[in-house]
Amino acid sequence: MIARIGTDVSTAADLLRSGHAVAIPTETVYGLAANAFDPEAVLQVFSIKARPSFDPLIVHLGRKEQLHRVVKHLPEGAERLMDAFWPGPLTLVLPKRLEIPDIVTSGLDTVAVRMPAHPTTQELLEQLDFPLAAPSANPFGYVSPTTAQHVADQLGGKIPYILDGGPCHVGVESTIIGLEGGRWTLYRPGGVGVESIEAVVGALSPMHRRILPVAPGQIESHYAPRIPVVVGEVEQLLPLYAAERVGVLALCKDHGAWRTEVLSVSGDLPEAARGLFGALRRLEASGAEVILAERFPDEGLGRAINDRLRRASAKGPYRD
Ligand code: TXA
Ligand code: MG
Repeated sequence: MIARIGTDVSTAADLLRSGHAVAIPTETVYGLAANAFDPEAVLQVFSIKARPSFDPLIVHLGRKEQLHRVVKHLPEGAERLMDAFWPGPLTLVLPKRLEIPDIVTSGLDTVAVRMPAHPTTQELLEQLDFPLAAPSANPFGYVSPTTAQHVADQLGGKIPYILDGGPCHVGVESTIIGLEGGRWTLYRPGGVGVESIEAVVGALSPMHRRILPVAPGQIESHYAPRIPVVVGEVEQLLPLYAAERVGVLALCKDHGAWRTEVLSVSGDLPEAARGLFGALRRLEASGAEVILAERFPDEGLGRAINDRLRRASAKGPYRD
């Protein structure tokens, strides 16, 4: 199978209705979508990505009216959060309805939901009478795709269709929050800044390790290119790697290394986030032997960038 890349929403809808997995654009990253109510279709998503079954998926809704088919009830604050950030890059982990197959949620009694802000995928969801379960459309553990071509490069041989919605505007995945002991808790920093969420529901509890192997944020090595990533003071690191072909990932400064990707000349963090995953892919493809990455300002989207770079640099069992 070789994936067709196209902009035909009806083709994607037909394939999804007949139980296939299809790559779809969102404002954050491309997703690999399947009918959230069809366990066999969702199983394909796991197998195409080589994703372990203990890592649950996000359910994508087109309309708020679909929520009642997915979620049992809305906890305090959920409505305000949805009003403030949907459609957009905020995922809420909420009590799940029994009708959502266990494979979607890895057997948890909660389900992660979001409403993507991408016109093509909104049109697609409009044509469907089911929500879409979708993880990012990359092999498990690797950098997420932000263009249709990124998806084709890695999963092109395994899926029938890639719905092309152009380059993703946000460029990093959604922020994920859920309730722990009645308090909204940050599971994964992402496209909505923590500061903005706190303006709506007050201080978020910090991320913490949970007992389950896969609570969000738990898988340390993730978002990782196939060459080592080292995060820190680039000027200090460079002499240590003098014998290697070094690729540098910087916010705005060119440190004069063998290859450099500057993410935003003006130091704009949303612009930097938008370019992050593409830059990691280019550095890997350039023949660099190691990537040295700056630490980004820990605010707004900088937090999501730092989180992804930290995990890209972590060594773990999922590193291939
Ligand atoms: O922006 C995004 O969120 C993209 C686009 C495609 O929507 N999706 C995405 O999905 O990043 P994925 O599968 O790569 O990451 C989903 C994360 C995982 O870390 C998973 O553990 C967490 O969501 N998650 C899903 N359901 C959960 C649940 N019930 N409780 C806790 N965490 C959950
Ligand atoms: Mg992912």
